[in-house]
Amino acid sequence: MSAEPPAETAAPPPLGRRTVLRGAAGAGAAGAAGLGLAACGKTSSDLPTKPVDLGASSDVPVGGAKLYRDDKVVVAQPQQGTFKAFSAVCTHQGCVVDSVDGTTISCPCHGSQFNALTGAVLQGPATRALPAVTVKETGGRLTAG
Ligand code: FES
Repeated sequence: MSAEPPAETAAPPPLGRRTVLRGAAGAGAAGAAGLGLAACGKTSSDLPTKPVDLGASSDVPVGGAKLYRDDKVVVAQPQQGTFKAFSAVCTHQGCVVDSVDGTTISCPCHGSQFNALTGAVLQGPATRALPAVTVKETGGRLTAG
C-alpha cells in the first residue's frame, strides 16, 4: 500500500515548475497559473503565436527598446534598422514585465531585470534569459511572432 501519490499528481518540485513555464511559453499558462503564477497578480498567457502588428518601427528608439505590454513583447533596436524582440513574460514566475528603462527591462513581481538587446538576465531571481521572438520590419511597421 502506498501512502504517497505518484509524482505527476503531487505538488511539482521547482524543476517541474520550470518545465511547465517553458511549456506555458508556447502553449498557454492555464496549467502554470494553477501552480502559483497567479500569486504575482500579473501573469502571462501566450507568447505571440501568430503575427502581431506592433505599429510604426520608428516607435522603437535606436539603441533602446520599447515594451508592447498588451502583446507581451519587447522590441529593441540595437542599430538603426536592426530589430530584436523578446518575450515580455518574465522567466522567473511568469509575470509580464512592466518597464523598459534604456536597455533594462524590469519585472514588477520580484525585481528581475533583463537586457533588452539580448534578453539576458541582469538581475535575479530569474535565471533564464527572455526567449527571443521573431520580429520583422515591413514598410516601416513591425510585426512580431
Ligand atoms: S516573476 Fe518573479 S521576478 Fe518576474
